[in-house]
Amino acid sequence: MAAGTSRQIVLGRHDELKKRQRMVIDVDGTGIGVYFVGEEVRAYLNICPHMGGPVCQGKIMPRTLELVADNGKSLGLGFSKEQLHIVCPWHGFEFDMLTGRHPIDKNVGLTPIPVQVSNGDVVLTVREPRP
Ligand code: FES
Repeated sequence: MAAGTSRQIVLGRHDELKKRQRMVIDVDGTGIGVYFVGEEVRAYLNICPHMGGPVCQGKIMPRTLELVADNGKSLGLGFSKEQLHIVCPWHGFEFDMLTGRHPIDKNVGLTPIPVQVSNGDVVLTVREPRP
């Protein structure tokens, strides 16, 4: 097949898949993590931008925040009620589950893979490997 072409892969029904938070699949030897956040779906290459670890197999946890009182004093650490992070199992780099970006360095992030819900199916679009 010619370089630069892509194909779509139907992963299953969104109503069923969204019951799980994540699935990691293998497409022609390439690992891809697919994440379900409410009605949103995201997919990322399972390669950490730090040192290539299997980031999509890491824990999912709420973003850790420093809680600050009105007077500016720290109240210690707490967890976000809105943001979930993917935590790379190798060295703990964290990435926002919806954006794939590192929470501090916005230039660092996971490689997104196009995914959408189409007629109730979760559909991934992958590039064909070069011949
Ligand atoms: S390889 Fe992912 S944090 Fe280092």
